[in-house]
Amino acid sequence: VPTLAWTGCGLRIIDQRLLPGREKYLDCDTVRDLATAIRGLAVRGAPAIGISAAYGAVLAAMESEEGPSFRESALAGIETLASTRPTAVNLFKALDEQRRILQASASRAEAIAALLASACAMRQSDLEASMAMGAAGASLLGDDARILTHCNAGGLATAGLGTALAVAYESHRLGRLSRVFADETRPLLQGARLTAWELTRAGIPVTVMPDSAAATVLAAGLVQAVFVGADRIASNGDVANKVGTFPLAIAARHFGVPFYVVAPLSTFDPCCADGSAIPVEQRGRDELDSLRGRRIVPASADVFNPAFDVTPSDLVTALICERGLLRKPFDRAIAELTRQT
Ligand code: MRU
Repeated sequence: VPTLAWTGCGLRIIDQRLLPGREKYLDCDTVRDLATAIRGLAVRGAPAIGISAAYGAVLAAMESEEGPSFRESALAGIETLASTRPTAVNLFKALDEQRRILQASASRAEAIAALLASACAMRQSDLEASMAMGAAGASLLGDDARILTHCNAGGLATAGLGTALAVAYESHRLGRLSRVFADETRPLLQGARLTAWELTRAGIPVTVMPDSAAATVLAAGLVQAVFVGADRIASNGDVANKVGTFPLAIAARHFGVPFYVVAPLSTFDPCCADGSAIPVEQRGRDELDSLRGRRIVPASADVFNPAFDVTPSDLVTALICERGLLRKPFDRAIAELTRQT
């Protein structure tokens, strides 16, 4: 999936707001353009946001003036990128690394080269992580597997095959996947627009349904497992992901269907002890109050539009990262993993 590419003078992204109707590419050649693209969800998904921001730090250095103040100017650009979206920790981890590289660079030219090398390395490592997660997840499935997913945790959300959808791609490659059920994912329809676009492009049968139909699908035994991505995973295994993930996990528990969260190490946040410390992005009423250009919410009604929710770790069967499966107790498994990295 052509999610993002460095052109030499900026980051080219596929404009995810226009999919599946139009495949249009957006050249983000300034920090401002890229920050607008991240804030507006032209590029989205936790790993893709982090990698984009890492390339954004290169733009910040390119925009700085040669001379003693190049670092301060580039740091200001990095702050602009950090202010775009609060929940995906990938963004902050990528920018922390770029800040460190910037501080260690002796000159503007050295900084640009080092920041670019670092962004490319993050991209490559995300690609490799997605393949490892796909293999680990696929090993949990038998023949003729049917799985359910929420939002878009595919190639569009990463620099590789995705997280949850990497499992679908790998199972399909092994000839073991018969169908993916995709929540449409209100209100911005990442499931209907993006997951279905990716999967049909890869020849994988997909059924899109309203989010509220997931319990019916689980009750009918139509899927063997649920696989979702994550924007941030706390030290105790609580998971922030697209709003609607939490009720899906409750329904999966009710019907005894395994609920797997697939995310690279870049999504684990050792600084959050549990889900209550994860900042949940609140988005505007415009995303909720109209449909196909028509107002569907009375102007005097308030709206509540959190972009994410937090699923308590108790509802998660296992976490899947590039190192394999993490089982309960998650706090111990995660602490062990972070000690190794
Ligand atoms: O608001 P979005 O579209 O950026 O939200 C994306 C998600 O919630 C994904 O499930 C998550 O980032 C995992 S992506 C591999």
